[in-house]
Amino acid sequence: MVTKPLLGMAPAVLYLVSLLCLLNLAGADRPVGPDPIENFCSRWWLQSTIKNDTLYIDSGVQKFNASNSTYLGTNTYIMTISLKKSWNWKKDSGDPQFMEVSTEPKNITNNDTGTYVPNNFRGYMFSGPHNSSQVYQFGGSTYMYNQSFVVKPAPSSFTYPLWTYTPGSGPLDTKWDQYDMNQEIKWEPNHGAGADAPDLGLGFYLNGQVDKGTSSDTNKLFDDTDQTYYRPVDGMLVLDLVNPGKAKNISTSTMKENLSRVGGTLDYIPSVGKSGILVALGGQIQPTLQNGKASSKEGKLIDFGSVDVFDIDSYLKNPDSNGKWYQQKTTGEIPPPRIDYCSVSVSAPDNSSHHIIIYGGQNPTLGQPAYFDDVAVLSLPSFRWKQMWSADTPRWGHNCHMAGKQQMITVGGNFTTNTTNPRCDWLKKGVAIFDLKERRWGSVYNSNSGDFTLHDQLLPSTNGTANGNATIGEPVTGWSSVELHKLFWETRWTRPTSWTSKAPPEDATEQQPTTSSTGSSSSDTSSPGNPASNTAAIAGGISGGVVCLGVILAALIYHHHRRRNKPAELPDNHIHLASQTDTPEKQKSHNFELQGINENNPVELDAWKYIEADNCTATGDAAELPGTNQVPGAVPGMPILRFPGDDLPVVPENPGGLRKSASRGSRSSTGSASSRRASSSGGSRRSRESRRSSTAPITGP
Ligand SMILES: *[C@@H]1O[C@H](CO)[C@@H](O)[C@H](O)[C@H]1NC(C)=O
Ligand SMILES: *[C@@H]1O[C@H](CO)[C@@H](O)[C@H](O)[C@H]1NC(C)=O
Ligand SMILES: *[C@@H]1O[C@H](CO)[C@@H](O)[C@H](O)[C@H]1NC(C)=O
Ligand SMILES: *[C@@H]1O[C@H](CO)[C@@H](O)[C@H](O)[C@H]1NC(C)=O
Ligand SMILES: *[C@@H]1O[C@H](CO)[C@@H](O)[C@H](O)[C@H]1NC(C)=O
Ligand SMILES: *[C@@H]1O[C@H](CO)[C@@H](O)[C@H](O)[C@H]1NC(C)=O
Ligand SMILES: *[C@@H]1O[C@H](CO)[C@@H](O)[C@H](O)[C@H]1NC(C)=O
Ligand SMILES: *[C@@H]1O[C@H](CO)[C@@H](O)[C@H](O)[C@H]1NC(C)=O
Ligand SMILES: *[C@@H]1O[C@H](CO)[C@@H](O)[C@H](O)[C@H]1NC(C)=O
Ligand SMILES: *[C@@H]1O[C@H](CO)[C@@H](O)[C@H](O)[C@H]1NC(C)=O
Ligand SMILES: *[C@@H]1O[C@H](CO)[C@@H](O)[C@H](O)[C@H]1NC(C)=O
Ligand SMILES: *[C@@H]1O[C@H](CO)[C@@H](O)[C@H](O)[C@H]1NC(C)=O
Repeated sequence: MVTKPLLGMAPAVLYLVSLLCLLNLAGADRPVGPDPIENFCSRWWLQSTIKNDTLYIDSGVQKFNASNSTYLGTNTYIMTISLKKSWNWKKDSGDPQFMEVSTEPKNITNNDTGTYVPNNFRGYMFSGPHNSSQVYQFGGSTYMYNQSFVVKPAPSSFTYPLWTYTPGSGPLDTKWDQYDMNQEIKWEPNHGAGADAPDLGLGFYLNGQVDKGTSSDTNKLFDDTDQTYYRPVDGMLVLDLVNPGKAKNISTSTMKENLSRVGGTLDYIPSVGKSGILVALGGQIQPTLQNGKASSKEGKLIDFGSVDVFDIDSYLKNPDSNGKWYQQKTTGEIPPPRIDYCSVSVSAPDNSSHHIIIYGGQNPTLGQPAYFDDVAVLSLPSFRWKQMWSADTPRWGHNCHMAGKQQMITVGGNFTTNTTNPRCDWLKKGVAIFDLKERRWGSVYNSNSGDFTLHDQLLPSTNGTANGNATIGEPVTGWSSVELHKLFWETRWTRPTSWTSKAPPEDATEQQPTTSSTGSSSSDTSSPGNPASNTAAIAGGISGGVVCLGVILAALIYHHHRRRNKPAELPDNHIHLASQTDTPEKQKSHNFELQGINENNPVELDAWKYIEADNCTATGDAAELPGTNQVPGAVPGMPILRFPGDDLPVVPENPGGLRKSASRGSRSSTGSASSRRASSSGGSRRSRESRRSSTAPITGP
């Protein structure tokens, strides 16, 4: 990391302040909170994972049922359910099939540091490498709606986004451990998409958001306790779970739409490519931000008509790169777009096909939100969707996991209810089982369910048998690029022999689509011939430029302030705000015009004394400066690299005499935020009519 002489002291001071905040919190005795089982009504946006035949369920938003009245709060426990033996959650205790849920309170501090264990929601739990016994709790936000009993009364510093929990019988305060990740992670994100690669010892966390519950800094920026407003966070974090605390934040600018997503999913498919692939589906993006904020009721959803595929090996081979993303079109019964659904992935025993199963979710962007109660399957490499099941008891904000190879277990979820007759979860313990072989929901978990076999409904996607034997080794519409074709053909184990599709050309011109069919390469923005290392170099160039310009700008502003109190006004068109929808090239081409600042008050050269040459080449930690969000190449309002404990990058209203472009809309964040919140509340009950009319039609195969 390059040290910044200019601002060297500020982070240290702010760090101290956040430490003091932490100490302040540690003094309070925190009650344990209502019982998550006794007072269970419903629970969603929780963290969960399966490891070593145990299902872990951590925190989340919980609706409690206390003697005929319900209220919202946080689940302050970690819970475990054993998967070593079969159970039926409908059975009572005493029955051999009784499903026992163990609970453990979390109003404890780490014995080594005295820090309270977080009770977050919308984070992600990684199972991590097989040879470690712990599970890994990453990210999330504090639920701000009801603070009366919540263990974490106000969000503190987010110095420790990663915690591990080691099961066992030891004292509670020694089971939780925390990891400082300030080297790479500047924000504790939530609502991003996580994926576990236990065999690689890696976890992935794609994009996400910060909101009122993220930290003391974001707490000041947002005024809505229901956390409808947020700021998207860029990049994909690659977490080293063998050495917890180590991570890299890589650019995701070559993904579809090039805007950070919340509420989507990421699935790891180990057998494709040399080190597996990640498949990113769905999610919500915000093409326009207001004062750097977005409402979860607005924005746009990523459709399932094409998906993003990440070649993990492209990153591992060159960890200084951002890796390689590809887009590929899908066909079949493409489900309507959504967020807050869950996904699992499973491969046929012979790895000739892979299946990503999604279930439920919501579309909050429609005014009258749409809620989903369907199970859809995306099969690879045919990239064909199949709707497998649907009914009308929707669920969203739940997680799902493969329990064994045949059963999908779902955990938690919010659902539509009715205010005159509020209802608690009909799944009395919040879990349900979807059997993929039987295509059926049930209450029985079978610890001996055997290998995955394909349901008849999936066979058209593979042209194989229940055990695999897929002949279809390519997308119906053809590969979007030769590189993606090669990725699917270079497997880390043996290539399926049943595929009858053509092999990728050995030394074809990289840009050509390979197949004879109606091939489409138009959606592939990460074009071949733009190798990962180039992307990295470009990205480095941009961020380095941002830092440099930021430092220059700050120096100019600083200097300017010292000399004059009356702000000089820039003609609006002299600061071009880079738009999020601009291509990187276009963003780069936005020229920052220094003469604007000179207009009323010429800048003197000695201002440059504040800048040291090194700052201009820095690509690591960037100094956070007022106004840097408006420099060329920056995305307005998006968080940028910062020091631990730094104040939030305030979206500049009128930084240092610069006038914001009039086209950027409303100035008053508080006013518009609260009025919009008021007008959009109460629209949660799902109407079948509106769902039908508002969702995209299902396209035929
Ligand atoms: C945890 O909660 C229990 C019950 O509310 C309380 O007695 C105990 O003091 C709390 N422990 C801590 C460390 O705050
Ligand atoms: C809950 O409501 C039912 C009927 O409305 C009533 O019979 C019961 O006593 C109530 N229970 C409590 C604990 O208030
Ligand atoms: C907050 O939680 C408390 C229990 O600690 C409950 O009595 C109260 O009704 C809740 N408030 C709201 C607004 O849900
Ligand atoms: C907690 O830490 C203290 C010292 O920091 C140590 O004396 C104590 O034994 C620890 N407790 C456990 C259960 O390890
Ligand atoms: C797990 O295995 C990795 C290498 O495969 C090793 O580096 C690590 O130390 C092991 N961890 C444990 C807890 O044994
Ligand atoms: C898995 O659980 C068993 C107990 O059921 C335990 O003996 C074993 O050590 C655990 N494995 C790991 C890697 O923690
Ligand atoms: C990752 O990097 C991007 C781009 O620099 C940054 O905007 C984002 O805040 C970083 N993510 C985290 C979690 O720090
Ligand atoms: C959860 O469901 C209830 C009832 O439908 C609804 O009022 C509430 O807004 C939902 N919460 C979220 C976060 O979707
Ligand atoms: C609420 O649910 C009750 C019982 O299920 C039903 O009788 C009533 O009509 C529902 N009210 C509304 C407004 O849907
Ligand atoms: C809350 O619990 C009580 C007592 O167990 C039960 O009668 C009531 O139906 C529950 N409330 C809801 C909304 O399910
Ligand atoms: C399907 O694949 C299995 C091995 O995975 C093989 O034993 C079997 O013969 C194949 N069946 C057909 C019909 O090709
Ligand atoms: C489907 O499989 C049959 C043989 O099992 C084969 O003749 C046919 O060509 C295959 N179709 C495709 C599209 O691969």
